[in-house]
Amino acid sequence: MPSPRMEAKTARVRVAAAAVNFPDVLLIADEYQLSVPAPFIPGSEFAGEVLEVADDVRNVAVGDRVFGSTMVGAFAEEVVVTATSLTRIPEGVEARQAAAFGVAHRTAFHALRSFARVRSGDELIVLGAGGGVGLAAVQLGVVLGATVTAVASSAPKLDVARANGATRLVDHSAGDLRALLKGLLPEGADAVIDPVGGTLSEAALRSLHYGGRFVTVGFAAGEIPRIPLNLVLLKGISVTGFQMRDFGAHQRDELERNEAELMELLASGRVTPHIGATFPLEEAAAALRYVADGHAVGKIVLEVS
Ligand SMILES: NC(=O)c1ccc[n+]([C@@H]2O[C@H](COP(=O)([O-])OP(=O)(O)OC[C@H]3O[C@@H](n4cnc5c(N)ncnc54)[C@H](OP(=O)(O)O)[C@@H]3O)[C@@H](O)[C@H]2O)c1
Repeated sequence: MPSPRMEAKTARVRVAAAAVNFPDVLLIADEYQLSVPAPFIPGSEFAGEVLEVADDVRNVAVGDRVFGSTMVGAFAEEVVVTATSLTRIPEGVEARQAAAFGVAHRTAFHALRSFARVRSGDELIVLGAGGGVGLAAVQLGVVLGATVTAVASSAPKLDVARANGATRLVDHSAGDLRALLKGLLPEGADAVIDPVGGTLSEAALRSLHYGGRFVTVGFAAGEIPRIPLNLVLLKGISVTGFQMRDFGAHQRDELERNEAELMELLASGRVTPHIGATFPLEEAAAALRYVADGHAVGKIVLEVS
């Protein structure tokens, strides 16, 4: 492919590593909220080095180590993006870690901080706790002082959730999730982060106590659940949905506060993304298939250069 073209306000980045996200799979399948006309280069998050900047760019310079996210184009040796969307990689953080940090951790942190309003001492249930967003929510829920109950479909995923700070582990393939959660949390939980949907959502929502907060983040199970509103009414539950691009548009101040806190967590080494597998760029299709089939543990990274 030819190198992507520069325009005003853009920077060209030599991609060192890119991470695979579930929305990449949805976009390729044309099942995402937005359509991108084919052909396109997939890939929505990356880290690397600035090669070139447009004349009007001030926030980054040639040679800077940066990471960022985009809709498409990151599974390539070079990507051109709006320069202000780039962030410098903190000292001591590897490019592959930075590439794996952008989407999942930002999604999880904004959802926990501004929507689930998780505080120290809270009981937090995380669905899909072995996946990208879920494992990030486990790590960040612990940082915010919550006691985390991780829900996933296999022992390897739950082992990683435990290693990342989850206190209680639930294998939802072992039986009825509502009953399993009731056994572990008889008083109910304060909050749920749900990146999975399907049949797990209602069971998790029923496991909240009065006034609990349920945050829907995505539907990796492929099924959008329908929740009976009487459950919401009887327990005074708040149900909210988080979506990255709308959050930035509507709650700019809160987004900036959260992003500053999150960068501090990355720079200080308090939070490091768990990279479950890496693939070379040539095997990007296999990496996408791996994520599409629900095998990913934490983040899947493509090593580009
Ligand atoms: N709202 C936002 O701004 C935003 C941002 C990023 C991602 N998302 C969404 O969040 C969801 C999770 O993303 P992710 O990157 O964490 O994905 P992921 O790493 O693939 O994890 C998704 C988890 O969903 C579960 N799952 C259940 N049925 C599945 C199926 N049929 N196929 C694949 N996974 C299945 C799996 O957990 P178990 O095996 O444990 O059941 C898997 O670990 C996606 O729907 C994505 O589009 C939303």
